[in-house]
Amino acid sequence: MKTEGIIIAIDGFSACGKSTLAKQLAEKLDYTYIDTGAMYRAVTYYFIKHQLDWNNPAQVAMALAEIQIDFRRDEDGSLHTFLNGEDVEKQIRTMEVSASVSPVATISAVRRFLVQQQQALGEKKSCILDGRDIGTVVFPEASLKIFLTADPQERARRRLKELLEKGQSVSLGEIVNNLTERDHIDSTREDSPLRQADDAVVIDNTVLSMEEQLAMIKVLAEMRGA
Ligand code: CDP
Repeated sequence: MKTEGIIIAIDGFSACGKSTLAKQLAEKLDYTYIDTGAMYRAVTYYFIKHQLDWNNPAQVAMALAEIQIDFRRDEDGSLHTFLNGEDVEKQIRTMEVSASVSPVATISAVRRFLVQQQQALGEKKSCILDGRDIGTVVFPEASLKIFLTADPQERARRRLKELLEKGQSVSLGEIVNNLTERDHIDSTREDSPLRQADDAVVIDNTVLSMEEQLAMIKVLAEMRGA
């Protein structure tokens, strides 16, 4: 992994391909990829698993004191999220977690806890982070900020395909509802709402192929010193 380089922030709405893009770009540039959404999902999974009430500040504080998240690579090179030493990559992608993650992500104590870790992980630079508040809150000084968007129907179709391939039984309607609800909660919450940073490059990838999108963003990253 390179130790000198830039921070690249990728923000945007739910399921618009941020993590696929971030992973591919990280591979091309030999950068570290940090999936901040996976961290919010892991915290949510912990609350569900231990039947904790995230509206109760004492229970949240107790939970956060117990939670340790890290990312590890599989033998095939794919990145997995670990919660207290357990591989939870599959569990955090379920509709059950997707249904609760946005309410959990409104809690300031949870955000403070995770943002601090994200900033520490990105300290060495040469890092790509994707999420909702990377360019505005986590790394406002990032050298390159991308704000991704795509047509909501197209996003829902992509997410359905992804989940069906993972063997989850879910309908297009359920996904549309979940994406709409998460986008609404994420954009209207008080603490660090999803919004485009003033200096972000906005890319609508509805009709772009992955190759076209990657090539475009790689040029932007190299122009900024990646
Ligand atoms: O991949 P997808 O677009 O479905 O979502 P994700 O990136 O896994 O993020 C899941 C949820 O975590 C979002 O809907 C937000 O509620 C929350 N999140 C956040 O608040 N801030 C971030 N930096 C990343 C995710």
